[in-house]
Amino acid sequence: MNILVLNGSPKEKSDTMHLTHSFLQGLNEDGEHAITVIDVIKKQIRPCIGCFQCWQRGDGNCVLQDDQNEILAAYRAADVIIWSFPLYCYGMPSHLKAVLDRTIPLVQMRMVADGNRVRHETLVDFSKKKTIVISGCGFPAWEGNFDGLKQQCRVCFGNPTILCVPETPLLNTPEAAPLARPLLDKFRRAGQEFAMHSSLTPETVAALETPMMPGKDYIAALNERC
Ligand SMILES: Cc1cc2nc3c(=O)[nH]c(=O)nc-3n(C[C@H](O)[C@H](O)[C@H](O)COP(=O)(O)O)c2cc1C
Repeated sequence: MNILVLNGSPKEKSDTMHLTHSFLQGLNEDGEHAITVIDVIKKQIRPCIGCFQCWQRGDGNCVLQDDQNEILAAYRAADVIIWSFPLYCYGMPSHLKAVLDRTIPLVQMRMVADGNRVRHETLVDFSKKKTIVISGCGFPAWEGNFDGLKQQCRVCFGNPTILCVPETPLLNTPEAAPLARPLLDKFRRAGQEFAMHSSLTPETVAALETPMMPGKDYIAALNERC
């Protein structure tokens, strides 16, 4: 399988990528898959200018001459696409959102009523691709923090596996290593599960999203450093 990771963290030592690396370790335990990690922050990706020339040309490319066409080529070639990024203002970071906006060359102008929604016809057979979203965030778990992101990912990616993990700065906090290790191990085992079944059970998703420590203790520990 070709596995593409779109790393949307702008940081050299991403909290979220700790989870993603553990997941990949389990997913590619036998070393049989090809993994490409694109650090989106290092790429030149202009915002979409809304010209729709991609739809006139219909070749799956963007007319803007920057790094997006390289990403589109990797996207087309991927069997599994992992979007790995921190939650920013209840959504994805803007440089990664620019990549998402500019996947529009992969669909066509024609619209289809599909169940209770409407979508564009695709140029690529997305039904054969699996999408995984791994998002870390700085707050403890609270209802609503990830709602907007989850809805966006569901409609953009079809039926993705979405993993929303609270308290991820703990993954780069040396004193919190005893709390981080079990979660990283759960991500590794989830990667193995995904390699076997191309999906994760709701129980696995719930376990991966379980906070590393109680929210009130996390807030207290963080506020002590302020
Ligand atoms: C601009 C900005 C916006 C953020 N918005 C949120 C947010 O809406 N909710 C949240 O829980 N954390 C938010 N955070 C915290 C990050 O999601 C958190 O620090 C995360 O662990 C960073 O992951 P990374 O190291 O992979 O980049 C925000 C951080 C920044 C810099």
